[in-house]
Amino acid sequence: MEKPKRENFSSGIAVFFATLGSALGLGNMWKFPYLVGNNGGGAFLFVYLICVFLLGIPVMISEFFIGRHTRKNAIGAFTELKANPFWKCIGYMGILSSLFIMFFYTDVAGWVYSYVFRGIKGDFNILSSLESTKAANTTQSIFLNTTGAGNSAINPMIWQLIVLVVVSLIIIAGVKKGIEKVTKTLLPILFILVIICDIRALTLQGSKEGLNFLFNPDFSKLNGSSIMTAMGLAFFKLSLGMGTMITYASYFTNDNNLMRTPIKVALSDIMVSLLAGIAIFPVVFSFGIKPEGSGMGLLFTTVPLIFMKLPFGNLLLIAFFFLTAIAATTALISLLEVPVAFLSEELKINRTKSVIIISSIVLIVGILTVHPGSLFGNAMIGSRNLFDFYDFLTSNILMPLGGFLIALFVGYVVNKNTLYQTLSNNGTLNIAVSFKLYQFVIRYITPILVLLVFLNSLQIITF
Ligand code: TRP
Repeated sequence: MEKPKRENFSSGIAVFFATLGSALGLGNMWKFPYLVGNNGGGAFLFVYLICVFLLGIPVMISEFFIGRHTRKNAIGAFTELKANPFWKCIGYMGILSSLFIMFFYTDVAGWVYSYVFRGIKGDFNILSSLESTKAANTTQSIFLNTTGAGNSAINPMIWQLIVLVVVSLIIIAGVKKGIEKVTKTLLPILFILVIICDIRALTLQGSKEGLNFLFNPDFSKLNGSSIMTAMGLAFFKLSLGMGTMITYASYFTNDNNLMRTPIKVALSDIMVSLLAGIAIFPVVFSFGIKPEGSGMGLLFTTVPLIFMKLPFGNLLLIAFFFLTAIAATTALISLLEVPVAFLSEELKINRTKSVIIISSIVLIVGILTVHPGSLFGNAMIGSRNLFDFYDFLTSNILMPLGGFLIALFVGYVVNKNTLYQTLSNNGTLNIAVSFKLYQFVIRYITPILVLLVFLNSLQIITF
């Protein structure tokens, strides 16, 4: 019987947009700008850039190698490489991580979708006429209702279902007609929308203070813990350590430059995060508000509150949440593709069925566990509710551990010649110097740094 043909992306641009789509996500819209501002602005950015080059990019190159060389899903890849079965645990952990991330990420994406809908419906219009305390209370109660902490948990569950249906339909459509088409169409729109929000923010009086918060380097704020934060962020931002980039790379074109694409993706990702920060902080500061508390609150309560005080604020708000919805959706499709590729290739379940199986698991577990007021919504593991537990388990344990093992695997186990052949596209690219540099970093620097992040996040060592 003839082997069913495996789908691939159709061009280098498609590869770039799909990969960037995975990296762009909720992380850009709140986590990144907020962490930069609070950890010394330009000084933190500088450290973050170093982490991206010593940690993010080398791990991404390694995942790209595994994926494109084997052209298999995150578990099949290790069989194909004839590796000791132990290494398959990278793939199994990746599938677990993608499920756990989806449990809560689809919930937050649902809040974002519902904000777009509320914006179009005009739910926020009332804010512009209220005095400040009342307006703040109103945004707070809109936020509580959205998350299900208010009256009913039904609303967020419906939005979570809608997100899952959208993401499932894209993945069912396939690699070319789904992932490629959607990321190629939506990312340019995201880019234009964030620029529009930036122009508005920069033309406000007092926007300078917001820019200072974001960019002014304050090296006195840097300490061990902010450096650890930068490393963890580089990992989370670039969707590493959990098989996503292995799976996507298995669809890459043969001539894609696997050492250059990660640099382009990482720099574009930083740019979008900064553009998001420029859209938010000048506005926040121009109203004399100091960005404090969690990043979530900044996104879902401060942003509507202040945007609605501007002329055409509602349009701006819709634009802002729509671009956030795009980022969350393109990240989610790359998450869903990991288990779907596994089920369809390893267990030979057809693609549509695989999508339905995984989405149903995510929907059921998600609905029962992440909403306050749902069956297990108030259950606690240690000091965390399940929502926070999923986030902690993935960001602090599974992803760094996965990254550590990937660095060891590619650095020490994989045949050096095979690695060179794949990364140089069988000798057609001149990568002699960069390959040496990469080999050195992935063997001696990345594993040590990731191990430090890992031990620090578990508080086994502290800085
Ligand atoms: N990079 C995504 C963001 O910034 C989050 C993320 C982490 C992710 N791991 C992932 C997305 C794996 C897709 C796949 O929000």
